[in-house]
Amino acid sequence: MIRHLYVHIPFCPKVCPYCSFYKEVRNHHRSDAFLNAVLTEAERHSRRLRPETIFFGGGTPTALSTRHLEHLVSGLRARIDLSNLREFTVEMNPATVSSEKASSLLALGVNRASMGVQSWDPEMLRTLGRVHSNRQAHDSFEILRRAGFENINLDLIFGVPGQTLQQWETSLEATVALGPHHISAYCLTYEEDTEYFLRLSRGQYRRDEFLETDLFEMTMDVLRGSGFFQYEISNYARRGRECRHNLAYWLGGDFLGLGPSAFSTVGFCRWRNISDTAAYISAVENDGASPSDFREVLDERALRVERIAFSLRTNRGVAADLLPPSKAEGLAEIGRLRRRADRWCFTRKGKRLADSVAVELI
Ligand SMILES: C[S@@+](CC[C@H](N)C(=O)[O-])C[C@H]1O[C@@H](n2cnc3c(N)ncnc32)[C@H](O)[C@@H]1O
Ligand code: SF4
Repeated sequence: MIRHLYVHIPFCPKVCPYCSFYKEVRNHHRSDAFLNAVLTEAERHSRRLRPETIFFGGGTPTALSTRHLEHLVSGLRARIDLSNLREFTVEMNPATVSSEKASSLLALGVNRASMGVQSWDPEMLRTLGRVHSNRQAHDSFEILRRAGFENINLDLIFGVPGQTLQQWETSLEATVALGPHHISAYCLTYEEDTEYFLRLSRGQYRRDEFLETDLFEMTMDVLRGSGFFQYEISNYARRGRECRHNLAYWLGGDFLGLGPSAFSTVGFCRWRNISDTAAYISAVENDGASPSDFREVLDERALRVERIAFSLRTNRGVAADLLPPSKAEGLAEIGRLRRRADRWCFTRKGKRLADSVAVELI
């Protein structure tokens, strides 16, 4: 049985210049056909699916209207056994949150909200090309709280062009002051095929890796100092509020992804749906054709490498018998790894250098 379900909703109120997730500006005319295709795809997998976690990501799932969200969730309920469901997350953009939508999502069984704030600084929000103001993000958080959400994540980004340590500290403190249960703090990545990547290539932006390290250190200090527990390099939670869905993914659980661009991994099989909404709809509605455009069979070695890379990023670390002892001990000697019973974990310095340490190990 597959215990984790991801649904990719490829619509956004506006496209941000740094983002490489598959998305398009929302188009309500396309929503009905898109949702029917997702439900058809869900039905095909229903016999082997009993989710404990569901994650609606994107894009921006709340770019859908309340009526469309109700249609999607009730359609899933009619097709899939949700009796084991424990965590149901929906990603949101502050410009797409209303009291009506928040109450409706709660009534549909959604129990975790994940909202992209990115920054509280007006200048940074402009640089990031965000569609909302800091006031609107604040109001949307209050709407979620008042509607009754008791598990809210806020996403933040650091390393934004022009950002100072002071600005970031203020944004972290403003986030903590609101009282979310979980905070994801990502270092900006310049993804190919984004406007930001072009600006970097043209020399309009410049990366400062020393500053990025200082910003990361500051994140750990401020959030841990405020009682958050860093359970993955970019993720901090109050005790018991870790995201079960993402943990399952990092720890190598099987999961099914529905919708355009969604990945699935079941046993040794991995596939990805086509990153084109119109092509996805027509593939699904076309006599049961698969909407995937990429498939591979993973071997033991590929799975082992992934397990090491992802689990090391979590505070659980990786089972010692998965790592070559001499390499792990060498990295421990230079202060990047530490041994905890039968597992290896990153030290604080190791977290800062996570990608290069993982490369040395695999
Ligand atoms: C798929 S978005 C969902 C949230 C919602 N669409 C929004 O932006 O408000 C998930 C998160 O990915 C992060 N993200 C997107 N592109 C990124 C990038 N290039 N570098 C770092 N983080 C990024 C942002 O923090 C964003 O909130
Ligand atoms: S960051 Fe969020 S709102 Fe912006 S383009 Fe990406 S998915 Fe859409």
